[in-house]
Amino acid sequence: MTVREIVTSENPLLRRRSKKVRQFDENLQELVDDMFETLHAYHGLGLAAPQIGVLQRVFIAELPAEYDEAGNETAPLEQYVFINPEIRRMRGEEEMEEGCLSVPGYRGVVKRATLVHIKGQGLNGRPFRVRATDLLAEVFQHEFDHLEGILYLDRLVSPDKLFLIPVGQEEANETVMAD
Ligand code: NI
Repeated sequence: MTVREIVTSENPLLRRRSKKVRQFDENLQELVDDMFETLHAYHGLGLAAPQIGVLQRVFIAELPAEYDEAGNETAPLEQYVFINPEIRRMRGEEEMEEGCLSVPGYRGVVKRATLVHIKGQGLNGRPFRVRATDLLAEVFQHEFDHLEGILYLDRLVSPDKLFLIPVGQEEANETVMAD
């Protein structure tokens, strides 16, 4: 597995629409492995293939496990791999503050649906569906946008709702912090 270089927003590659995956083979597995490696290296919640320069319809998302004060796990680690995702249903609307590994140093306020039904294929090509709410729903919408060549910068509620992250707080990375 390899940590790949992240493509940043001035690169026109991020403005292109990614292509449907047709071959579910070891190259796809390797791509996804590298994406997880890269996601972990940058402490993100989600990553889309175009962000490492691969214009294929693949994204991953990961919500870390949560623990209470005694150290007991209160929510398990959640990992998702979507190949050829389609958002089938969106409901609700909420203003959220997001960041993106491809827009380092900034965060901005966007509107997102609070519930999505999303369908996709797994690494083996088998179709599946997920109903996601809140943070997970927002990560999915953000990553799906990358496959369409859309950045959260395009969805700011207003141009003045883009903020520089103060130095020392850069750990708040790719996608969505509910506040
Ligand atoms: Ni992003």
